[in-house]
Amino acid sequence: MIVGNTTVARPGSLRESEKAREQGGLSGRPLFRLSTRVLAETFVRAENAFPLIAAGGVDSGATAIAKIKAGATLLQLYTGLIYRGIDVVTEIKEDLTAALKRGHRSSLASMVGSDAAAITADSWPA
Ligand SMILES: Cc1cc2nc3c(=O)[nH]c(=O)nc-3n(C[C@H](O)[C@H](O)[C@H](O)COP(=O)(O)O)c2cc1C
Repeated sequence: MIVGNTTVARPGSLRESEKAREQGGLSGRPLFRLSTRVLAETFVRAENAFPLIAAGGVDSGATAIAKIKAGATLLQLYTGLIYRGIDVVTEIKEDLTAALKRGHRSSLASMVGSDAAAITADSWPA
């Protein structure tokens, strides 16, 4: 299951109020916290019945790792490619490899969903 798509919500962090009033789905960095929360909620409820694909604000190694810890087995990105170019994919892969080496692990599998319960216990992102 891909979690999720864009949002029609307008988070308080948006700086350009005129653009924030435009209709349609918001993607990218301002969507990161909300989509990561929904991902964690889905991971907790799905109980490993199927793999989850994270979408929403993945644009770096740090956001990729956060999505994996929230429950993603696969990552999807669109807006990050527009702002950062295709090199962002190489950067993410290098950062994931570095995270594995730091943790002396051979696989990211044990990282999947490791933060999900803690994320769902937090207050809902504004
Ligand atoms: C310009 C644009 C077009 C999109 N078109 C589609 C689409 O046709 N079908 C779909 O399921 N999602 C579509 N999406 C949503 C993306 O697949 C993705 O779920 C969303 O942008 C969040 O990821 P991101 O923050 O990495 O962009 C589109 C997003 C953008 C920005």
